[in-house]
Amino acid sequence: FEVHWDAEAAEKGGYEHFMIKEIYEQPRAIRETMSSRLAKDDSHIILDELKWTKQEMAAIKKIVVVACGTAYNAGLVGKYYLESLSRIPVEVDVASEFRYRSPLVDENTLAIVVSQSGETLDTLAALKEAKRLGAKTLAITNVVGSSISREADQVIYTWAGPEIAVASTKAYTTQLVLMSMLAIYIAGLRDTISAERSRELISGLRNLPAQLHEILEDVESIKTFAQKYGFNEDVFFIGRSLDYAVALEGALKLKEISYIHAEAYAAGELKHGTLALIIEGVPVIALATQHDVYEKTLSNIKEVKARDAIVIGIAQQGDEQIKKYVDHTIFIPQADKFLAPILAVLPLQLLAYYAAVTRGCDVDKPRNLAKSVTVE
Ligand code: AGP
Repeated sequence: FEVHWDAEAAEKGGYEHFMIKEIYEQPRAIRETMSSRLAKDDSHIILDELKWTKQEMAAIKKIVVVACGTAYNAGLVGKYYLESLSRIPVEVDVASEFRYRSPLVDENTLAIVVSQSGETLDTLAALKEAKRLGAKTLAITNVVGSSISREADQVIYTWAGPEIAVASTKAYTTQLVLMSMLAIYIAGLRDTISAERSRELISGLRNLPAQLHEILEDVESIKTFAQKYGFNEDVFFIGRSLDYAVALEGALKLKEISYIHAEAYAAGELKHGTLALIIEGVPVIALATQHDVYEKTLSNIKEVKARDAIVIGIAQQGDEQIKKYVDHTIFIPQADKFLAPILAVLPLQLLAYYAAVTRGCDVDKPRNLAKSVTVE
């Protein structure tokens, strides 16, 4: 009698792939990342690891966020948070571009690099370049002791736990959570956020783990859409404002693991070229979680519907209007517009996962890709 012990299966804890395991770990990963960083009375963010004074923060004239891939997409969301709360201009750059374009960075710049692994070569080189130019540097990473964590002046960690699947999921959502906390924190130091707004966002953050859990409890419809449309060759993602940033991440995920050609567009850009590609039967994933641009997004949805696209809308619960204009709707629990991306990306991760499974792809190790890119 022999007992066969499969170490990898054991690590997957009963899940078929690391990616789906990591998707399901998100409520916990986010709870960990927030733990001990939210004041008990929701009045402020505690980031004791940051040793900035009010004077130092007042001197910052510009923030640059530099990263690759999914971490770059998280940086795009971070830009919205940082600019609107701290009122500091923010540029987001792909690390491989930043390092070669002689960036305008000086001692009044805060350079934030984002990297799950902390080992991405281009991001590390960009960090060194920002440092050389005199910027204050901050790393957001998931790996303690990584090269990037050692090189940066300051570090804040996402507490997502090890991410094994090549496709990043829990690293992205924890980066978003940390970015939002950082923005509230910096805004607090610069007196650009009201006590009320700060409290509102912090209590919204607290709700996230339970809300993510709610989405993960019912994935049947998402699975069905992935099976139904998983063999289409092209998929489009559209959205405005923060929904656009999330659309970019949804498209990257789908390309990376299911090999479906996917593109994300700022919904208002459609008629400047891409609308020509929208024909009968093309799936369009339309994100409409941002109330301030809702009506505008709806008119873009009508534009693609008029071309007989198949539209899957992603909207906040209670949105009855959207159902009239789309073929299917995936609802996310109600949340502040700032925090909606952290929920809205979940259905997109799941769609990509189930599309890849439907197509028989090697989900955890997609072709040509490595988990950590330590070459140029
Ligand atoms: C994400 O799904 C990708 N595999 C990839 O874009 C990744 O986010 C990128 O290589 C950056 O990695 P890092 O966060 O470890 O620096």
